[in-house]
Amino acid sequence: APTRPFDNVPDTDFSLSANQQWIKEIVNRWSTTQPQPIPLQIGGDWIHAEMQGEGIDPSRPGEPAYAYSLAGQTLVNRALEVATQAQPGWGHRTVPERRAILLDISTELAKRRGNFIGSMMLDAGKTVSEADPEVSEAIDFARYYARALDAETLGAEVWDCRMTPLGVVVVTPPWNFPLAIPAGGVLASLMAGNAVIFKPAPEAVLVGWHLAQAFWAAGVPQEVLQFVPVPDNEIGQALVTDPRVDAVILTGSLQTARRFQTWNPEIRLFAETSGKNSLIITSMADQDQAIKDLVRSAFGHNGQKCSAASLAILEAEVYDSETFRRQLCDAVASLAVGPAWDVVNVVTPRTQLPSPELERGLTTLEPGESWLLKPRMLDGNARLWSPGIKLGVQPGSFLHQTECFGPLLGLMRAKSLAEAVEMANAVDFGLTSGLHTLDDREVAFWKDRIAAGNLYINRHITGAIVRRQPFGGWKASVVGPGAKAGGPNYVLQFVDWHQVSLPR
Ligand code: SER
Repeated sequence: APTRPFDNVPDTDFSLSANQQWIKEIVNRWSTTQPQPIPLQIGGDWIHAEMQGEGIDPSRPGEPAYAYSLAGQTLVNRALEVATQAQPGWGHRTVPERRAILLDISTELAKRRGNFIGSMMLDAGKTVSEADPEVSEAIDFARYYARALDAETLGAEVWDCRMTPLGVVVVTPPWNFPLAIPAGGVLASLMAGNAVIFKPAPEAVLVGWHLAQAFWAAGVPQEVLQFVPVPDNEIGQALVTDPRVDAVILTGSLQTARRFQTWNPEIRLFAETSGKNSLIITSMADQDQAIKDLVRSAFGHNGQKCSAASLAILEAEVYDSETFRRQLCDAVASLAVGPAWDVVNVVTPRTQLPSPELERGLTTLEPGESWLLKPRMLDGNARLWSPGIKLGVQPGSFLHQTECFGPLLGLMRAKSLAEAVEMANAVDFGLTSGLHTLDDREVAFWKDRIAAGNLYINRHITGAIVRRQPFGGWKASVVGPGAKAGGPNYVLQFVDWHQVSLPR
């Protein structure tokens, strides 16, 4: 059993010239190489299927970046058969055996850091500074989940605490964190003894393929972890509703989670969904620090994070301050915007074309709103928008209520902290929330009343760190049991736990 305290792995120190040289080489290689067609992996066979999808580099959306295979109904069926047969063998391995494999996975992930960064730049238009911590997070998940299911720490009678895996788990991650989120779901499922069908997001198949290879290289049998890109249509529906599937881990929109439940009311679903997160800044805040943290929270990865701050709720004195507005506007206007491969850029092309919600947010003013900074489409690339800031967002309005998932920040004016908290809570979701104030009484007031899963004080509100900041929401941000990812109970969700006791 693990005895050492848990330390997170460090991100790359890019102030060192050796690391600068290393990343330059990675960026050069990945920006000029055409990836090979990506197969499916079912039952140990690498299959180039008839049905093909096209990977897109959002920084160069005109040219197809690579081809990948998609499973039809017959291949989905085969993957399910293989998983069902392979699971008992994996589930019967002891916890220490599976722990050792997870630790080997962490080593394999660390060896591939450069390739993960390059593939995330290609698939998701990520900047190096967004992609590098994502690799650290994936490694942390492996090392942290390896410590789970230790009967002694669970307080159980060691000799007869039986944990029965759920069975076959489908892991269906999003495109915005194409490495860390699938890594977390797959690792937790495997640690608990389940077989996994990994269905990568259609926008991030290349990252998923590299991730799966790290697992196999560490000794996860290919039958236990299969790589099965599936189109998001009736074939995807058939996969997640098949009776041989015992659980589904989804990170995606609330609509997708609800759709899964409509398709199959019996589904055992573990879903982390959307957010409508605010950062409150009171008149007692350090405004320079607040602006810095707000810009990072709102525009990191172009706002394409469920954890992003899409609203800043400002106490009247802050909202009305010309200095605050000018400083915020200047800070955002000076973010460099352009293709991810040009590494000076902070705001890079979006992985997806704007949704109708984002399009409305970026192009329309609702009653009471005006632009502090008007967003613009650049280079004729509909995925690339400069960041926008709206003033006068009204309680109950479209931008107050709707997750837009893009480089758009709305400012709201509150008469008091109490009113700001009311506005922050008057949304369906409850994922992250932030407060900037130097007054401890305000911190106490806010902390007691804010309805969100992850609260951040005087700092940015994205980028939760494994174990230190277990991550997961409240309200409509979660569907299912909702243990926090990177927290102590997460892996336990994927076993049924039998405690057998004898008379004494
Ligand atoms: N865990 C990520 C964050 O904290 C979101 O998925 O930003």
